[in-house]
Amino acid sequence: MSKETITKIEIEKAATSKINDVDFNNLSFGSIFTDHMFVCDYKNGSWQTPKIIPYQKLMLDPSARVFHYGQAVFEGMKAYKDDEDGIWLFRPDENFLRINKSSKRLAIPEFPEEYFFDGLNTLLKLDNKWIKKGFGNSLYIRPFVIATEAGVSASPSSEYKFIIICSPAQSYYGGEVRVKIADHYSRAASGGFGFAKAAGNYAGQFYPTNIAKEEGFQQVIWTDANTHEYLEEAGTMNVFFRIGDKLVTCPISDRILDGVTRKSVITMAKDLNIEVEVRPIKVAEVLEANKNGTLKEIFGSGTAAVINPIAGFGYKGDKWELPKIENSYAKKIKEAIMDIQYNKAEDKFGWRIKVD
Ligand SMILES: Cc1ncc(COP(=O)(O)O)c(C=O)c1O
Repeated sequence: MSKETITKIEIEKAATSKINDVDFNNLSFGSIFTDHMFVCDYKNGSWQTPKIIPYQKLMLDPSARVFHYGQAVFEGMKAYKDDEDGIWLFRPDENFLRINKSSKRLAIPEFPEEYFFDGLNTLLKLDNKWIKKGFGNSLYIRPFVIATEAGVSASPSSEYKFIIICSPAQSYYGGEVRVKIADHYSRAASGGFGFAKAAGNYAGQFYPTNIAKEEGFQQVIWTDANTHEYLEEAGTMNVFFRIGDKLVTCPISDRILDGVTRKSVITMAKDLNIEVEVRPIKVAEVLEANKNGTLKEIFGSGTAAVINPIAGFGYKGDKWELPKIENSYAKKIKEAIMDIQYNKAEDKFGWRIKVD
């Protein structure tokens, strides 16, 4: 990231830090936030001077558009600290491009690039102590935009807030994950906004996911809304299937979030001489591969855990467990990506960006 901060950011530092009250060995994901937040308001047709202020509650009119029409988008990214106290971001340019892609689809004005990177850089330096060293520790960064104009007319807001908040995170282990393959509910439809990281995409998943939880699963793998024959993505992860010695994942479309980790997994797998096929993948193909013993692994990819191995899956009332295997692709690829994130390995793809 540029050393020169070109954006004028008004900074109000917190009078005291909350950091000494935090037990960094017992963090529950996304529940504790750092001392500061970045805020930039949009009004009168332009983004105003950005600010960094002590982390605090927002005051909004109850009729603000975000509460009624869900005009809101967000991102999820992480900062990592290496053994020499260097702070690194992983492909942040991808998150910047994606939040603006999401914004455009939700009729939210796009955010200027220099505001985003200068804001992030300044915020991370200010809250630097909240990023703990150690493989697996990180700072989860949540940029988001909400529609703040008062008034319940169903039309795009003329006022917004772009905010960045940060939450310390430990190595993520979600326990054994079992997934249900959707055969009735859908997450997204063609022409819709499944590709956007829009708040409503997540709200719509909660109810069907709760049903899956009652049936003993932790997540749903969504299938295409038309036929439910093709596998698409999971709750907050893209999905990969290892069939024989090939990795298969479906192509990106307007129904699927273009995951930064997914892209990185594809590149890294190829670099590790693992064959990758990006093509539509049918539920029937996975069921058949499971039956004939060629389905060796299923895993999800996403910022939270990099890769989350899937222990078992269910479809239309049947359940299967996947065998535990040696030489797991999930493990190999995850380690290779994490070594880049934590500045432990050469970064030949240029993914790692220093905060300084
Ligand atoms: C719906 C969905 N799919 C996939 C992903 C994975 O994306 P990324 O690798 O950029 O975190 C996420 C998480 O952000 C998600 O919410």
